[in-house]
Amino acid sequence: MSSDAGPATRVTPYVYSAGRLRLLDQRRLPHEEVFLECDSAAQTAEAIRSLAVRGAPLIGVAAAYGLCAEARRVTARVPEDLDVALALGAERLVSARPTAVNLAWAVGRMRAVAAASANGRAGERVLRLEEEAHRIAEEDRLACLAIGRLGAAWLHARWSSLSGVPSVLTHCNAGALATAGIGTALGIVRVLAAEGPLAVLADETRPFLQGARLTAWELRQDGLDVTLLPDVAAASLIARGRVQGVIVGADRIAANGDVANKVGTYGLALACQAHGVPFLVAAPTTTIDLATRDGASIPIEERDGAEVVALRLPGGASVSLAPAGVSALYPAFDVTPAALVDAIVTERGVSGPPHAEALARFLS
Ligand code: MRU
Repeated sequence: MSSDAGPATRVTPYVYSAGRLRLLDQRRLPHEEVFLECDSAAQTAEAIRSLAVRGAPLIGVAAAYGLCAEARRVTARVPEDLDVALALGAERLVSARPTAVNLAWAVGRMRAVAAASANGRAGERVLRLEEEAHRIAEEDRLACLAIGRLGAAWLHARWSSLSGVPSVLTHCNAGALATAGIGTALGIVRVLAAEGPLAVLADETRPFLQGARLTAWELRQDGLDVTLLPDVAAASLIARGRVQGVIVGADRIAANGDVANKVGTYGLALACQAHGVPFLVAAPTTTIDLATRDGASIPIEERDGAEVVALRLPGGASVSLAPAGVSALYPAFDVTPAALVDAIVTERGVSGPPHAEALARFLS
């Protein structure tokens, strides 16, 4: 990972201090900036499950701090219970969401620190856990900067003969609200925007509306313009030459380069292939899972169909969008085959199809 220079963001999705994790409640954006207090692993797991906090790298960071909060809570009462509490908390956190591998990865790192300090005093062990959580967050922050630079350079090389202002499209939110830094896909967007004129298009991303509520909000926070699209408009705009690159994040990248990301990503990749538009996946190496052979082996989270048939309003009430009793299917992620991904941009380099060899090298 190279130097620390690069664009910054005003967005702060979490704050941790002395056993208290405060998470910007993303269910309430863009209307309200409210922080949710988590003093335990159970509360943090519920925040992850309910999408108060979301985005693959950020749920890993939140889980790491959730375990710190748990450690502080238990140590203040019954220090002998620390190991049992950490084991239970880790289990709860990992099962909160199944697709993003960063969650299990971060919890694994915290558990390794707990195991390595098993003979220490409880207070000392809590400090070791907090140091590790800070390290996980800092590594992610630096990874975002490196991804931003590498992805921007890759696109500039592809755009060398382009005239006019390039337009990039992103899906869901892979930004500062999903990481401990400037974002992965939006990290690339931020670097490109700092370097020259750029038009940014964002899919609204039904049904949780990460694009409309979160991507638009965070880019506006940093003074960047963004144009929203209904998801269903993306393919025709790609076909009409209105998009010069699609940049998305990832929740898990299998060993063969297949990519799980927010549902709707696969369709964008197909449209890009059909019309010769670059399709980029931006993710830290913590999203690569060499233990998962291919996309078919990635667990895809199925969320409650109620999230599709009803729209959540500011304040928590909801309004139904379909007749009473209609059921809905909601796979939250889809898998894009490696062959459709022109570039996987990580902090350790950019891989091109067929990806498998480069991904293994990045992790070696
Ligand atoms: O359900 P979400 O909002 O957690 O889904 C998030 C995504 O699909 C992101 O693209 C992915 O986690 C990468 S975030 C850098």
